[in-house]
Amino acid sequence: NFEGQAPKNWLKINLTPNARVVLEKRYLKQIDGQVIETPEDMIYRVANVIAAIEEEKYGKGEKETRALAKEFYTIMANLEFMPNSPTLMNAGRDLGQLSACFVLPIEDSMEDIFDAIKNAAIIHKSGGGTGFSFSRLRPKNSMVRSTGGVASGPISFMKVFNSATEAVKQGGTRRGANMGILKVDHPDILDFIQCKEDNKEITNFNISVGITEEFMKAVREERDYDLINPHSGEAAGKLSAREVFAKIVDHAWQNGEPGIVFLDRLNESNPTPQLGKIEATNPCGEQPLLPNEACNLGSINLKLMVTEKNGKMVINWERLSHVTRLAVRFLDNVIDANQYPLKIIDEVVKGNRKIGLGVMGFADMLILLQTSYATEEAVDYAEKVMKFIQTEARIESQRLAEERGTFPNYESSIYDGVMKLRNATLTTIAPTGTISMICAASSGVEPLFAVAYTKTVMDGTSLVEVNPLFETFAKEYNFYSPELMRKIAEKGTVLGLPEVPNWVQEIFTTAQETSPEWHIRIQAAFQKYTDNAVSKTINFANSATREDIAEAYRLADELNCKGLTVYRDGSREEQVLSTGTTV
Ligand code: CDP
Repeated sequence: NFEGQAPKNWLKINLTPNARVVLEKRYLKQIDGQVIETPEDMIYRVANVIAAIEEEKYGKGEKETRALAKEFYTIMANLEFMPNSPTLMNAGRDLGQLSACFVLPIEDSMEDIFDAIKNAAIIHKSGGGTGFSFSRLRPKNSMVRSTGGVASGPISFMKVFNSATEAVKQGGTRRGANMGILKVDHPDILDFIQCKEDNKEITNFNISVGITEEFMKAVREERDYDLINPHSGEAAGKLSAREVFAKIVDHAWQNGEPGIVFLDRLNESNPTPQLGKIEATNPCGEQPLLPNEACNLGSINLKLMVTEKNGKMVINWERLSHVTRLAVRFLDNVIDANQYPLKIIDEVVKGNRKIGLGVMGFADMLILLQTSYATEEAVDYAEKVMKFIQTEARIESQRLAEERGTFPNYESSIYDGVMKLRNATLTTIAPTGTISMICAASSGVEPLFAVAYTKTVMDGTSLVEVNPLFETFAKEYNFYSPELMRKIAEKGTVLGLPEVPNWVQEIFTTAQETSPEWHIRIQAAFQKYTDNAVSKTINFANSATREDIAEAYRLADELNCKGLTVYRDGSREEQVLSTGTTV
């Protein structure tokens, strides 16, 4: 257990009231319900534990380690970089589990299924999320030799996983989250596509259909494709690819699920094909992993990577390079500081040493650069920024490889003989749901959710929350008034408001006002330079048709996305956040 207060003369963190509340509720150490550390102490705890690895494991001197801890502290205190929540919560504490993403195997036996449930519960308790492929389970109604009975099939087992997650929820620091994937050629695929229809029984799962190239080809050629029983390996009937595709589209149109994930494409960029295939991702889809593999994530706040130069706002490449390199070193150290929940996970993780560095505040960056999200210019920025981060991350990982050795499975990996890396993957775009709140940045690479919204607090009063950048613009260009802010909060948009100059309307477009095509093109632009995948929601208007959704899937496929998550406005009863209502 690390005890310590941040030195008084170290940088103070400039947190919004919302960020402070989030930290106090779940991140800062408590004794008997009393918060006993400040946000600065928390960052100090994390920075020290992650830097100390270099002294313990790589023989660095105390002074050098201390200086590194201060550098780690500084980029976090500046809110320029944040590791994923489990690292903030657990570093230097009893749990010590620092990764957000896990994939657990499920083999086709009772023992294996219930082992996976137990292991998932242990992971959820520590704030990690779990992904599973259910594709190896024999279909429902097939024979079970040992009992002479019939199998219940993947969907009924998913319900058991779901209940276990529900029960652990009360004890954990955050709600347990799961991803369930079923390959499109599994005989139970039709049941799977509709398994969340009533949305009550599998609430702790995101579900995705694992799409193959063969299936997409069959869709294009309007023909049947083979179903395969994973237990026997035998063909188990045929389905019309068009009909299955239409059914996926129909359900996604109805309530956003299932998502799709292009399995063959995940495996094309699998860095270690010699170890087997990738069959699943973490809960939000951005991190494909091998069975028993985990990954820790971290994100750079692009909102703070913009600077004024000769009276013009430009990207601060120098600072971005500095923060990227430190972040890679930080995340590589996390692998060694981590206390993994299972021995097998410890071994698999340390064989590949995957890390997932990404970004948040992309929409904020565009606003500061006075660029609208739905433009070629924004797509260019996305590519330029991510290409730069990937290049800088590789330079640092190569440096670390020279100093500490390549990842142990480097031989026969896709990098063998190409470049020596310390980490089998470097980049991932996470949703940054909580850490973007801590940093007061727009989440991940999403457009703004709203320019202003109304928040009803405990005693029933409603407060208007205005995007801080919008408030700054409104004041700087003299159109600020509390009445206008209230009006915007009610409408949720600035489009068409005569009080707001046209050029400001254009750069403050929200997710709802961005067409699906631009959402996908931004996702694809980031994917181009991301080793793992990109977390992104493609928003549709309520009036969008099923054909619009089908078109989006085709575009995502064409632009080399690794998967797609769609959401049609108003299609789910519970919307996590919405304009004009209580949050
Ligand atoms: O911002 P934060 O670090 O809290 O997390 P995020 O970027 O929103 O989510 C990253 C990953 O953490 C997700 O894809 C999940 O794997 C995991 N997660 C989870 O298991 N449970 C949650 N309630 C939220 C995230």
